[in-house]
Amino acid sequence: MAGTRLPDTPYDDQGLPLALGVIGCGAMGAALAELFSARGFPVHLAGGRRRTAEALAARLPSAVAADPETVAAMARLLILATPVHASRTEVAPRIGHLLGGKVLVDVSNPLPSDLHGTGYHSAAELIADAFPKSPIVKGLNCVSARQVRAFARGGPPPTVPVTGDDREAKQCVTRLLRTAGFDVADAGPLRNSRWIEGLTELLRRIGQEEGLGDAVGFRLLRLGGEPPEDAWQDSRTSGPAFVPRKENRT
Ligand SMILES: NC(=O)c1ccc[n+]([C@@H]2O[C@H](COP(=O)([O-])OP(=O)(O)OC[C@H]3O[C@@H](n4cnc5c(N)ncnc54)[C@H](OP(=O)(O)O)[C@@H]3O)[C@@H](O)[C@H]2O)c1
Repeated sequence: MAGTRLPDTPYDDQGLPLALGVIGCGAMGAALAELFSARGFPVHLAGGRRRTAEALAARLPSAVAADPETVAAMARLLILATPVHASRTEVAPRIGHLLGGKVLVDVSNPLPSDLHGTGYHSAAELIADAFPKSPIVKGLNCVSARQVRAFARGGPPPTVPVTGDDREAKQCVTRLLRTAGFDVADAGPLRNSRWIEGLTELLRRIGQEEGLGDAVGFRLLRLGGEPPEDAWQDSRTSGPAFVPRKENRT
């Protein structure tokens, strides 16, 4: 069924950018909405009680604000940029059942209280538990909102480690992030998320020690060159190489 098939690229069959949804329009959600809007993606925004989504949509050319249910219906790929507790207790009950065939990107970093007593080691696994209908891809959590904005203005591309258990979903998110200009590193299955969530904590501590705050970021060095486009694909599943569509429009 075409309608529920998971997207494996951020473009549709006509080469048009897929509609992205951003749930949570605080510091991180707003920075990502600005970035993807500037990169030409239609962005559907939903915020909380302070009506942050409406204020953000008013100043972004390709963005519209709506309630979370509408955003879930309109977007093929959603970025969950709400605090973990709100994601589980408020967002999941409202839209979790609407997310079949959609990819969910979890950018969260957990508070200790989020994980305490749950038996899980990462926010990503908590989110996967709360959103059983959609494949979860963990990523962008170790890039600060400040760095997203600096990158959007032409700053150096941070490395974004991503984890996930669904091949198409991870491929789609990887391609989206690479199209946006990020360096992406495949960090394996979702259960590895604890390590990239731990990386955020490491960067936070370095930022504190060096007096740089959230200006500290992560870039992976690879001896022997950059990874192939679809490094995680094996020979049975590899398809044609992806060409970012924006570069085709000359
Ligand atoms: N800030 C960063 O640099 C950064 C970097 C990487 C990852 N993250 C992660 O991104 C997530 C958000 O962090 P943040 O710093 O952006 O927090 P924030 O500035 O406090 O924003 C959180 C947003 O979530 C919205 N929200 C709360 N409950 C909601 C609900 N039920 N439905 C829809 N929206 C809801 C709030 O909307 P209203 O304001 O309208 O109430 C608020 O705008 C966290 O998981 C964090 O770990 C943050």
